[in-house]
Amino acid sequence: MSIRIAPSILSADLGRLADEVREVEAAGADWIHVDVMDGVFVPNITIGPPTLKAVRRATRLPIDVHLMIVEPERYLETFAEAGADIISVQLEATRHVQRTLSQIRALGKKAGLVLNPHTPEEAVRYVLGDVDLILVMSVNPGFGGQHFLPAVLPKLRALRERITREGLAIELEIDGGIAPATVKSAVEAGASVLVAGTAVFGEPDRRQAIAALRAAVEP
Ligand code: DX5
Ligand code: ZN
Repeated sequence: MSIRIAPSILSADLGRLADEVREVEAAGADWIHVDVMDGVFVPNITIGPPTLKAVRRATRLPIDVHLMIVEPERYLETFAEAGADIISVQLEATRHVQRTLSQIRALGKKAGLVLNPHTPEEAVRYVLGDVDLILVMSVNPGFGGQHFLPAVLPKLRALRERITREGLAIELEIDGGIAPATVKSAVEAGASVLVAGTAVFGEPDRRQAIAALRAAVEP
Protein backbone atom coordinates (compact mmCIF):
# COMPACT_ATOMS: atom_id res chain seq x y z
CA MET A 1 0.00 0.00 0.00
CA SER A 2 1.41 3.41 -0.84
CA ILE A 3 1.65 5.78 2.08
CA ARG A 4 0.79 9.47 1.87
CA ILE A 5 2.36 12.06 4.12
CA ALA A 6 0.40 15.14 5.11
CA PRO A 7 2.51 17.72 6.99
CA SER A 8 0.43 19.78 9.41
CA ILE A 9 1.08 23.51 9.13
CA LEU A 10 0.25 23.86 12.82
CA SER A 11 3.95 23.34 13.48
CA ALA A 12 5.15 25.53 10.59
CA ASP A 13 6.62 29.00 10.94
CA LEU A 14 3.43 30.90 10.19
CA GLY A 15 5.34 34.09 9.49
CA ARG A 16 6.75 32.33 6.44
CA LEU A 17 3.73 30.18 5.70
CA ALA A 18 3.83 30.23 1.89
CA ASP A 19 7.53 29.35 1.87
CA GLU A 20 7.00 26.61 4.43
CA VAL A 21 4.25 25.06 2.30
CA ARG A 22 6.36 25.28 -0.87
CA GLU A 23 9.28 23.75 0.97
CA VAL A 24 7.39 20.64 2.11
CA GLU A 25 5.83 20.27 -1.33
CA ALA A 26 9.31 20.25 -2.87
CA ALA A 27 10.45 17.87 -0.11
CA GLY A 28 7.91 15.22 -1.14
CA ALA A 29 4.74 15.89 0.88
CA ASP A 30 1.58 14.40 -0.63
CA TRP A 31 -1.08 16.53 1.04
CA ILE A 32 -1.05 19.67 3.22
CA HIS A 33 -2.94 19.25 6.51
CA VAL A 34 -4.62 22.35 7.94
CA ASP A 35 -5.78 22.26 11.58
CA VAL A 36 -8.66 24.60 12.37
CA MET A 37 -9.47 25.03 16.08
CA ASP A 38 -12.14 27.17 17.70
CA GLY A 39 -11.21 27.27 21.39
CA VAL A 40 -14.51 25.50 22.19
CA PHE A 41 -14.29 21.98 20.79
CA VAL A 42 -10.59 21.99 21.72
CA PRO A 43 -8.70 24.16 24.22
CA ASN A 44 -6.76 26.03 21.54
CA ILE A 45 -7.39 28.51 18.73
CA THR A 46 -5.51 28.32 15.48
CA ILE A 47 -6.34 29.53 12.01
CA GLY A 48 -9.30 30.04 9.73
CA PRO A 49 -10.37 30.63 6.13
CA PRO A 50 -8.00 33.53 5.25
CA THR A 51 -5.00 31.40 6.16
CA LEU A 52 -6.40 28.49 4.19
CA LYS A 53 -6.63 30.81 1.17
CA ALA A 54 -2.96 31.66 1.59
CA VAL A 55 -2.08 27.95 1.68
CA ARG A 56 -4.18 27.40 -1.44
CA ARG A 57 -2.21 30.05 -3.28
CA ALA A 58 1.08 28.42 -2.29
CA THR A 59 0.47 24.84 -3.43
CA ARG A 60 -1.17 22.53 -5.92
CA LEU A 61 -1.18 19.62 -3.47
CA PRO A 62 -4.51 18.44 -2.06
CA ILE A 63 -5.40 20.41 1.07
CA ASP A 64 -6.72 18.31 3.92
CA VAL A 65 -8.71 20.52 6.30
CA HIS A 66 -9.29 19.15 9.80
CA LEU A 67 -12.06 21.06 11.51
CA MET A 68 -11.85 20.94 15.30
CA ILE A 69 -14.80 23.25 15.72
CA VAL A 70 -18.30 22.83 17.10
CA GLU A 71 -21.13 22.73 14.55
CA PRO A 72 -18.76 22.49 11.59
CA GLU A 73 -21.81 22.34 9.30
CA ARG A 74 -22.07 26.13 9.63
CA TYR A 75 -18.71 26.66 7.95
CA LEU A 76 -18.47 23.99 5.25
CA GLU A 77 -19.16 26.34 2.40
CA THR A 78 -16.64 28.87 3.68
CA PHE A 79 -13.86 26.29 3.88
CA ALA A 80 -14.81 24.80 0.51
CA GLU A 81 -14.56 28.25 -1.08
CA ALA A 82 -11.29 29.00 0.70
CA GLY A 83 -9.60 26.07 -1.04
CA ALA A 84 -10.11 22.79 0.83
CA ASP A 85 -10.05 19.56 -1.17
CA ILE A 86 -10.90 17.32 1.76
CA ILE A 87 -12.99 18.57 4.68
CA SER A 88 -12.97 16.45 7.82
CA VAL A 89 -15.28 17.01 10.75
CA GLN A 90 -15.05 15.61 14.25
CA LEU A 91 -17.83 13.11 14.84
CA GLU A 92 -18.20 14.44 18.39
CA ALA A 93 -18.78 18.02 17.17
CA THR A 94 -21.69 17.62 14.78
CA ARG A 95 -25.16 16.38 15.66
CA HIS A 96 -26.36 14.98 12.35
CA VAL A 97 -23.22 13.34 11.06
CA GLN A 98 -24.69 11.87 7.88
CA ARG A 99 -26.19 15.20 6.88
CA THR A 100 -22.92 17.02 7.47
CA LEU A 101 -20.96 14.50 5.41
CA SER A 102 -23.40 14.70 2.52
CA GLN A 103 -23.22 18.50 2.64
CA ILE A 104 -19.45 18.27 2.17
CA ARG A 105 -19.89 16.04 -0.86
CA ALA A 106 -22.58 18.30 -2.26
CA LEU A 107 -19.96 21.08 -2.23
CA GLY A 108 -17.81 18.87 -4.49
CA LYS A 109 -15.29 18.07 -1.75
CA LYS A 110 -14.13 14.81 -0.22
CA ALA A 111 -15.79 14.10 3.11
CA GLY A 112 -13.74 13.04 6.12
CA LEU A 113 -14.87 11.91 9.55
CA VAL A 114 -12.56 12.22 12.56
CA LEU A 115 -12.72 10.03 15.66
CA ASN A 116 -11.31 11.15 18.99
CA PRO A 117 -9.17 8.57 20.81
CA HIS A 118 -12.10 7.39 22.94
CA THR A 119 -14.65 7.16 20.11
CA PRO A 120 -15.18 3.54 19.04
CA GLU A 121 -14.94 2.41 15.43
CA GLU A 122 -18.57 1.26 15.60
CA ALA A 123 -19.58 4.94 15.46
CA VAL A 124 -18.89 5.04 11.72
CA ARG A 125 -20.87 1.93 10.90
CA TYR A 126 -23.94 3.56 9.37
CA VAL A 127 -22.12 6.34 7.51
CA LEU A 128 -19.52 4.26 5.70
CA GLY A 129 -21.18 5.08 2.38
CA ASP A 130 -20.91 8.80 3.11
CA VAL A 131 -17.18 9.09 3.83
CA ASP A 132 -14.10 9.30 1.63
CA LEU A 133 -11.74 9.38 4.60
CA ILE A 134 -11.71 8.33 8.23
CA LEU A 135 -9.20 10.04 10.49
CA VAL A 136 -8.26 8.32 13.72
CA MET A 137 -6.85 10.72 16.30
CA SER A 138 -3.85 9.28 18.10
CA VAL A 139 -3.74 12.21 20.54
CA ASN A 140 -6.52 14.29 22.04
CA PRO A 141 -6.97 17.07 19.51
CA GLY A 142 -5.82 20.57 20.36
CA PHE A 143 -2.05 20.73 20.18
CA GLY A 144 0.92 19.61 18.18
CA GLY A 145 3.81 17.78 19.80
CA GLN A 146 1.83 15.38 22.00
CA HIS A 147 2.62 11.72 22.57
CA PHE A 148 1.18 9.04 20.32
CA LEU A 149 -1.50 6.93 22.05
CA PRO A 150 -0.90 3.27 21.09
CA ALA A 151 -4.32 2.39 22.56
CA VAL A 152 -5.92 3.53 19.26
CA LEU A 153 -4.09 0.92 17.18
CA PRO A 154 -6.79 -1.78 17.54
CA LYS A 155 -9.34 0.77 16.27
CA LEU A 156 -7.21 1.45 13.23
CA ARG A 157 -6.88 -2.27 12.62
CA ALA A 158 -10.62 -2.86 12.93
CA LEU A 159 -11.35 -0.06 10.47
CA ARG A 160 -8.77 -1.33 7.98
CA GLU A 161 -10.24 -4.83 8.17
CA ARG A 162 -13.69 -3.49 7.54
CA ILE A 163 -12.58 -1.31 4.61
CA THR A 164 -10.81 -4.29 3.02
CA ARG A 165 -13.59 -6.76 3.72
CA GLU A 166 -16.28 -4.53 2.27
CA GLY A 167 -14.11 -3.24 -0.58
CA LEU A 168 -14.68 0.40 0.43
CA ALA A 169 -12.85 3.30 -1.20
CA ILE A 170 -12.02 5.03 2.08
CA GLU A 171 -8.65 6.51 3.05
CA LEU A 172 -7.57 5.76 6.61
CA GLU A 173 -5.62 8.59 8.17
CA ILE A 174 -3.84 8.90 11.51
CA ASP A 175 -3.05 12.17 13.28
CA GLY A 176 -1.03 12.94 16.39
CA GLY A 177 2.42 12.00 17.61
CA ILE A 178 3.47 10.52 14.28
CA ALA A 179 7.27 10.24 14.12
CA PRO A 180 9.78 7.72 12.80
CA ALA A 181 9.43 5.77 16.06
CA THR A 182 5.62 5.47 15.94
CA VAL A 183 4.84 5.45 12.26
CA LYS A 184 5.52 1.77 11.71
CA SER A 185 2.90 0.59 14.19
CA ALA A 186 0.32 2.94 12.63
CA VAL A 187 0.99 1.71 9.12
CA GLU A 188 1.04 -1.92 10.21
CA ALA A 189 -2.36 -1.35 11.78
CA GLY A 190 -3.67 -0.01 8.47
CA ALA A 191 -3.11 3.74 8.17
CA SER A 192 -2.62 4.95 4.60
CA VAL A 193 -2.27 8.69 5.26
CA LEU A 194 0.02 10.03 7.97
CA VAL A 195 -0.35 13.51 9.41
CA ALA A 196 2.90 14.82 10.82
CA GLY A 197 3.42 18.25 12.37
CA THR A 198 6.43 18.28 14.65
CA ALA A 199 8.13 15.40 12.83
CA VAL A 200 8.26 17.47 9.62
CA PHE A 201 8.13 21.19 10.47
CA GLY A 202 10.09 20.72 13.69
CA GLU A 203 13.06 19.39 11.73
CA PRO A 204 15.48 21.72 9.95
CA ASP A 205 15.71 19.52 6.85
CA ARG A 206 12.18 18.77 5.67
CA ARG A 207 13.26 16.50 2.84
CA GLN A 208 15.17 14.36 5.30
CA ALA A 209 12.27 14.45 7.77
CA ILE A 210 9.77 13.18 5.18
CA ALA A 211 12.26 10.61 3.92
CA ALA A 212 12.77 9.38 7.50
CA LEU A 213 9.02 8.77 7.89
CA ARG A 214 8.88 6.86 4.62
CA ALA A 215 12.03 4.90 5.43
CA ALA A 216 10.50 3.77 8.73
CA VAL A 217 7.63 2.08 6.90
CA GLU A 218 8.94 1.28 3.43
CA PRO A 219 11.82 -1.13 3.76
C1 DX5 B 1 -3.77 17.96 16.80
C2 DX5 B 1 -3.78 18.19 15.30
C3 DX5 B 1 -2.63 17.58 14.61
C4 DX5 B 1 -1.29 18.13 15.00
C5 DX5 B 1 -0.31 17.00 14.93
O1 DX5 B 1 -4.94 18.40 17.35
O2 DX5 B 1 -4.96 17.64 14.72
O3 DX5 B 1 -2.79 17.62 13.19
O4 DX5 B 1 -0.83 19.17 14.21
O5 DX5 B 1 0.89 17.42 15.45
P1 DX5 B 1 2.06 16.42 15.79
O6 DX5 B 1 2.40 15.67 14.53
O7 DX5 B 1 3.13 17.30 16.27
O8 DX5 B 1 1.52 15.48 16.86
ZN1 ZN C 1 -5.06 17.47 12.44
